[in-house]
Amino acid sequence: MQGLEVRGLSKHFGGLVVSENIDFDLPSGARKALIGPNGAGKSTFANLVTGILAPSGGTIRFDGQDIAGLAEAQRVKLGIAKTFQITTLFPKMTVRENLRLPVLEREGRGGRLFRSADSDPRIEAEVADMIAQFDLDALADRPVLDLAYGQQRLVEMALTLALKPRVLILDEPAAGLPSSETHLITDAIERLPQDLAVLVIEHDMDLVFRVAHSIVVLVQGRILTEGTPQEIAGNAQVRELYLGGGHG
Ligand SMILES: Nc1ncnc2c1ncn2[C@@H]1O[C@H](COP(=O)(O)OP(=O)(O)OP(=O)(O)O)[C@@H](O)[C@H]1O
Ligand SMILES: [Mg+2]
Repeated sequence: MQGLEVRGLSKHFGGLVVSENIDFDLPSGARKALIGPNGAGKSTFANLVTGILAPSGGTIRFDGQDIAGLAEAQRVKLGIAKTFQITTLFPKMTVRENLRLPVLEREGRGGRLFRSADSDPRIEAEVADMIAQFDLDALADRPVLDLAYGQQRLVEMALTLALKPRVLILDEPAAGLPSSETHLITDAIERLPQDLAVLVIEHDMDLVFRVAHSIVVLVQGRILTEGTPQEIAGNAQVRELYLGGGHG
């Protein structure tokens, strides 16, 4: 299969079982959401897939290749990326200057200066395309610290995309955003490249139900169920456990 294939994945922290026998597929072009109560093991799952954590058992394949033994940086090279949880933006630099960095990094030119006078028209064009894709044209030459928090999140998403990933994991992309800015994230997810495999971990159910074609529900480290948004919204167990009957 093209994409991610996880089988029997488990993770224990001492006696605490945080992931238990997880089977999970994320094919090219997928739009999946992973939901579940606080502490269900969602971020742990993302960290196992990206290589931040080592599994206690199970397999992780990408395009058929076993990647469970690869370090995080090697998985990024293969195309498995997660948006940065801590802000990695340089606040005093402009949006455009921030976005040049990962492109140069990807090209193995990260050590070079990145003033526009030094820059290469091909890189400038790629950066301009990303700025347009994320609707940041009007802000491109403003320092990042001038941007609303939601727009800073878009710049972070663009930074990750500059690595040209094939799998993108977004762990709570709307966390901490005022509800007036959540649509920025939803719109950006909807405009991601079609063939990218996308996994969104999120508590904001409006976002989840708008972007996901398939929803996986994780409870205490186990997959409770997986289904279409309609199936999940209609699942009595899920409603009771997590949605509180608020959806559908
Ligand atoms: N490094 C660690 N050592 C020990 N326990 C951990 C570690 N990381 C996470 N845990 C525990 O694993 C469980 C799952 O945590 P995880 O962060 O994956 O949950 P989550 O579903 O992402 O929750 P949230 O929705 O709050 O982000 C929790 O009980 C947490 O305390
Ligand atoms: Mg989490």
